[in-house]
Amino acid sequence: MLILVNLKTYPCDPVAVAEAVRDVDEETDARVAVAPQAAHIERVAATGVETWAQHVDPIDYGSNTGHTLAESVAEAGAVGTLINHSEQRLKLADIDGSVRAAERAGLETIVCANNPAQIGASAALGPDAVAVEPPELIGTGTPVSQADPDVVEDAVDAASRVDDDVSVLCGAGISTGDDVVSAGDLGAEGVLLASGVAKADDPKAALEDLVDPL
Ligand code: G3P
Repeated sequence: MLILVNLKTYPCDPVAVAEAVRDVDEETDARVAVAPQAAHIERVAATGVETWAQHVDPIDYGSNTGHTLAESVAEAGAVGTLINHSEQRLKLADIDGSVRAAERAGLETIVCANNPAQIGASAALGPDAVAVEPPELIGTGTPVSQADPDVVEDAVDAASRVDDDVSVLCGAGISTGDDVVSAGDLGAEGVLLASGVAKADDPKAALEDLVDPL
């Protein structure tokens, strides 16, 4: 089970959360990783934690002011990247371009999508994984795996009809170990989560609760 903690632009200490993620990853069979802001990737990766980028642009080296180059996040220490997160939506052609850019840089890819139909389209682009996140549940503390189990099962079906090799994750409102277990029971191979850890008073305790039942 992959548990990817997205720090978004929350005002947390990225290195402190990274150290907690690293320590909990070492204590469990689950794969626990963190996705800080691009500006924090190098400091976060230096802790030894598995580090992901939140986004890469569909570009190559060149005149692309203000864009995020896949090679640069890889060089900073990221091993993978989210693409098309609900808060960083891309056009289909740009999702494709970002997946290709990430592959070129050797980054693992998770393409996010709102619903099962978009999951099918995203799986067709050949990422390593797709993640279904109903936007209306993001940041609510109401877990997708319990509030809308059908969307997770339908996303698993949609991806497997297109490409059985693409893993399916889910996210939105996940903050407890029970939520993670429910996600797994619905066929998800991992979860994306943010506020449950990034906004917790004690991120390490929140992470320990997440992996406890696994
Ligand atoms: O990328 C994960 C995120 O969008 C879910 O956020 O705060 O509902 O766990 P949250």
